[in-house]
Amino acid sequence: MSSETDFLLAVEGLSVSFDGFMAVDDLSFYVDQNEIRVIIGPNGAGKTTVLDLICGRTRASAGSVKFRGRELTQLREHEIVRAGVGRKFQTPSIYEDLSVFENLEISFPRGRSVFGALMFQRDIKVKSRVQEIAEMVFLDGLLSERAENLSHGQKQWLEIGMLLIQEPRLLMLDEPVAGMSVSERKRTAELLHRVIRDRAVLVIEHDMGFVADIAHRVTVLHQGKVISEGSLEHVKEDPKVVEVYLGH
Ligand SMILES: Nc1ncnc2c1ncn2[C@@H]1O[C@H](COP(=O)(O)OP(=O)(O)O)[C@@H](O)[C@H]1O
Ligand SMILES: [Mg+2]
Repeated sequence: MSSETDFLLAVEGLSVSFDGFMAVDDLSFYVDQNEIRVIIGPNGAGKTTVLDLICGRTRASAGSVKFRGRELTQLREHEIVRAGVGRKFQTPSIYEDLSVFENLEISFPRGRSVFGALMFQRDIKVKSRVQEIAEMVFLDGLLSERAENLSHGQKQWLEIGMLLIQEPRLLMLDEPVAGMSVSERKRTAELLHRVIRDRAVLVIEHDMGFVADIAHRVTVLHQGKVISEGSLEHVKEDPKVVEVYLGH
């Protein structure tokens, strides 16, 4: 039996209300190191709000978010990023007029300022890191291409690359394969299986084929609460889940 501190992410009793409406209601769940967790649930279930609460975009009215043992609910968004949480929104926020290389380069975390010879060493390090990440997100053949010329799926990968270059310990993705082709979805699944070697991934997803390809465990949200959790096979058979999806 593992103690609470073994989890990478421990969400407990998390709540937020908007004008008296409980969008997230006393929510608890735990994510392990190296885990791909998928959150599913009908529209308006509170899925995006959960990510907003974890990354500090929305402030919780109650509850706690512990990440590597550290409480996040009182931190500001940039402090949460620095603590190791990377979050991708539904619409890609890449720089359309910059190249793939430049998009990745500007996302490389800036350390303390360095000068002269050290600057040169930093350039080498950044270049090799950009190359490594570009390979990981299937864009190494497109480093000098302007981002606006990428396909929708490639833009999504670029943004994932821009997060990965910051080496988050938790990567959160909101519907990453929406609008992707079947082959792009397959490659995205491959990508996620590769990146969890060094981190955990928390994904919101509707596409059940994709969920089946990636999920170690699934958390089902309905009206801001967890109604079921476990393997995809387990939650699919759960009468509470069937009712929510059929009643929808
Ligand atoms: N900033 C906000 N202000 C007011 N209501 C919000 C806000 N964010 C989300 N909501 C409401 O909270 C509920 C959950 O929304 P959301 O988390 O986006 O659901 P999901 O991502 O599961 O579709 C919805 O009813 C939505 O209208
Ligand atoms: Mg949403």
